[in-house]
Amino acid sequence: MHFGSDNESGASPRVLEALARANDGAESAYGDDAYTRRAVEALKDVFRCDLDAFFVSTGTAANGLALSCLVQPWQSILCHAQAHVLLDESTGPELFTGGARLLPISAGDGKLRPDHLARHFETAGSHPPHNPVAAALSVTQVSENGLVYTPEELAALCGEAHRRGLTVHMDGARFSNAVAALGCAPADISWKAGVDVLCLGASKNGALAAESVIFFKRDLAATFAHRRKRAGHLASKGRFLGAQFLGWLEGGHWLELARRANERAAELGKGLASLSGVRLAWPVQANEVFAVVPKGWAEEMRAAGAVFFDWYPDVLPPGPPLEKGETLVRFVASFSTEASSVQKFISRARGHPIP
Ligand SMILES: Cc1ncc(COP(=O)(O)O)c(C=O)c1O
Repeated sequence: MHFGSDNESGASPRVLEALARANDGAESAYGDDAYTRRAVEALKDVFRCDLDAFFVSTGTAANGLALSCLVQPWQSILCHAQAHVLLDESTGPELFTGGARLLPISAGDGKLRPDHLARHFETAGSHPPHNPVAAALSVTQVSENGLVYTPEELAALCGEAHRRGLTVHMDGARFSNAVAALGCAPADISWKAGVDVLCLGASKNGALAAESVIFFKRDLAATFAHRRKRAGHLASKGRFLGAQFLGWLEGGHWLELARRANERAAELGKGLASLSGVRLAWPVQANEVFAVVPKGWAEEMRAAGAVFFDWYPDVLPPGPPLEKGETLVRFVASFSTEASSVQKFISRARGHPIP
C-alpha cells in the first residue's frame, strides 16, 4: 500500500535489460557515445521533429539547467504557485540561473491560464533596471495537483507567453502520464502547443535515474553543454543515461508504463470517493489523487501500513476550506503499483481488511 510517490518505485525490467545490454565493452565517455546518440534519435522519432536533447540524472538539475538557458540573473520566471521549481527544489533554480526570481502568478487556481499572465503584466512593475523583467514561463505537465493540460489549454497559454516575449519551459516529470491520459501525440502537448524546452522525466516512470532536457527551439541550447559540465552534471558514463532512455522509449514502453500508473490512480480515486467522510480535492486525471480526509482516518490507515503524504493545504481548489480535523493528502500510483494493493487499501478503509 505504497502511494507516497512514483519515486518509490523501482525500475522497469525492460530498462534494466537495456542497461545490461549497454554494459558490454568500452564506449566513449561523457555522452559522446552510440547509446546517447541513438537516444536523441529516438526522441526525434517520438516528437516527430528536429531537436537537441541532453541527459542528466535528476529532475531538479534538468529544470535548473534548462531555465538557466532561458533567463538572465536579473530576470524572472513566471510559474504556478505550487510549481515544483518554486516549492520543492530548494533554491536550485536560483543557483543554476545565477539568481533569477521565480514569481508565482496562479493565485489559487489549479492550472495556469493566459489571464494569469495578463494580470501579471498589468500589475508588475515595468521599470528596468529596478524591476525584474519576466523572461520565461514554466508550466508543469502533469500539474502539481494532478491535473492535465489539454493541447488547446497549452496552446493558449504558450501563445500568450510568446506574445509577451517569454520563452516556455515545461517541467515534464510526469509528461508520460499526460500523454497516456490524453491519448494524444507527444508533439501535441509540447512543441506544437508552443513549448520551447521540455524536461522529460523518466525516473518516476520506469527508469533508474534518467531525465532529458529537450530543446525544440534549438538556438536556446547553445550554452547547455557548458552549463551542465560546470554544474557537475555531465555523467562520465553517459551511455547508461542514453541506454535507459532507449529501453524506456522502445516500442512505446514509456506510455504502457504510464497507462498502468494512471489506471491504478483512477481505481484508487474511485475507491476513495466512495468512502464517507472522504472527498476528492481535484479530479483524478493522471497518476495522482488528492483527497481531503479525516486526520484520524489517515493515522489509522498509516498504522495499517499505508504510505501517503500530507499535502500543502493551499493546493485546495476554490470551495469549502478544510474543516478542523481534516487534512489534505496525496496518493501517487506508479507503473509498479499492483491492482491488489489498491484493492487491499480500499477494503481496509471500508473496514474489511484483505489479509
Ligand atoms: C513536478 C516535478 N518536477 C520535477 C521533479 C524532479 O525532482 P528530482 O530532482 O527529485 O528528480 C519532481 C519530483 O518529485 C516533480 O514532482
